[in-house]
Amino acid sequence: MKVLMVCLGNICRSPLAEGILQNLSNEQGLGWEVDSAGTSGWHDGAQPDSRSIAVANTHNIDISRQRSRKFLVSDFDDFDLIYVMDSSNFVNVNKLARSQADTDKVDLLLNVTHPGMNKAVPDPYYEGGFEGVYQMIAEACDLIVKKYAIAKV
Ligand code: 4NP
Repeated sequence: MKVLMVCLGNICRSPLAEGILQNLSNEQGLGWEVDSAGTSGWHDGAQPDSRSIAVANTHNIDISRQRSRKFLVSDFDDFDLIYVMDSSNFVNVNKLARSQADTDKVDLLLNVTHPGMNKAVPDPYYEGGFEGVYQMIAEACDLIVKKYAIAKV
């Protein structure tokens, strides 16, 4: 399974989602490929926000080697599942979709835990709340593994 996590800057939320899901895959020997990207490209090449690195560290996950990159149209070809953090990410990613097959890969991450409710992972860049963000992402990643790991083994 190849999974891409997407937010606006690719420095706060999606790096956490990448780190959490990759860690679950590694722990369980699933061999999944997990990556993350931002719709903006504003922080291209940057390390994750120090607050995301810190909260991941408290859960024994190292995301410090990740680097921000912009979402690419070719990501629709390279990934099976594309999870976005909020409705603005959803609109921006789907604007680049070339087909229904592309669109079908995209969903809000919290629709995994709250089906059909279109809830957002709140942007913590200005407001903070990194631990809460970590928890909601981790809960969704647990369910993604439960849902798709079965098909793999
Ligand atoms: P992220 O958070 O989308 O979770 O990475 C943000 C990071 C940077 C900015 C906004 C949100 N920014 O305005 O630079």
